[in-house]
Amino acid sequence: MSIVQDHWLQTAAVSHLGLGTPNPRALAAFYERTVGLQLREAVGTPSTVASGVDHEAGDSAPIQLGWGATGHHVLELLPGEAGLDHFGVEIPDQADLLRLRERLQAHGVGTTELNSPELSGFSIDDPDGNCIHLHGRIDRTGEHTADPGRRPIRYQHATLATANLTKMISFYVDILGFRLTDRMGDVFAWLRAGRDHHIIAIVDTGAGGDIDHYSYDVSCWEDFKTWCDRLAELKVPISWGPGRHGPGNNLFIMFDDPDGRHVELSAEMERFWDDLSAYEPRVWTPDAVTVNLWGGQIPSWRKPTRA
Ligand SMILES: [Fe+2]
Repeated sequence: MSIVQDHWLQTAAVSHLGLGTPNPRALAAFYERTVGLQLREAVGTPSTVASGVDHEAGDSAPIQLGWGATGHHVLELLPGEAGLDHFGVEIPDQADLLRLRERLQAHGVGTTELNSPELSGFSIDDPDGNCIHLHGRIDRTGEHTADPGRRPIRYQHATLATANLTKMISFYVDILGFRLTDRMGDVFAWLRAGRDHHIIAIVDTGAGGDIDHYSYDVSCWEDFKTWCDRLAELKVPISWGPGRHGPGNNLFIMFDDPDGRHVELSAEMERFWDDLSAYEPRVWTPDAVTVNLWGGQIPSWRKPTRA
């Protein structure tokens, strides 16, 4: 018997992050220097403030960065307090996007049209008040030009912080249509909407409304040596790793941006190829070995009981 359900998102992917920051220009310069994102010509932004890419502009101007001069933006840096302004999820199939909107409305979730020539879709708020831009297909051609040692391939997942894991899982699975891949006790949940083990994860940190961290893909293990050397050269300390996560089985290192946001580089994430096979979400023990198979260290920002 098939376990495919009609509310599941089959091919969604994260697309961009809108980040509040007290200093958009400094943050943009950091991401240009470290991960090779480029200031790009904005063709429109769903934000309420007009977008701009001018290095000479004051810190009141939002900035967009992407992979190369063309294609979708990956980061939108918005002047204000450091924190999550919004995040984007691409649903390439227009019929899926339409069905999702109807389902959201049936559940009483308010939707607001995105006012953007670049993105066709709508925004919603999740139970923690995180604003999600749900939109159709975007131009990902810039992701094809990765230079493994100097530029990751793509932005791959975001992990949301929360104080209410159960409510968040219920919203993302039962209403939005993500599939629960793995769970670590009552602390962590990993969600997928396609092949990758997770594109969204949720962790109980005791407070919601922001991301815990977000991650870029690099191509393989060999790249980690280059990236560790490169970050050392840039005097950007590696805050956790190299290691391998249990859930997702992905290799990782992490470092912080100037606003203290945790940024991950990842490779070899587990993928799922057979949507028709029965799959029960795995439940992992909430301990340090689960989040780092290679020795069980946990990052300095986690409480020992919340690995
Ligand atoms: Fe992660």
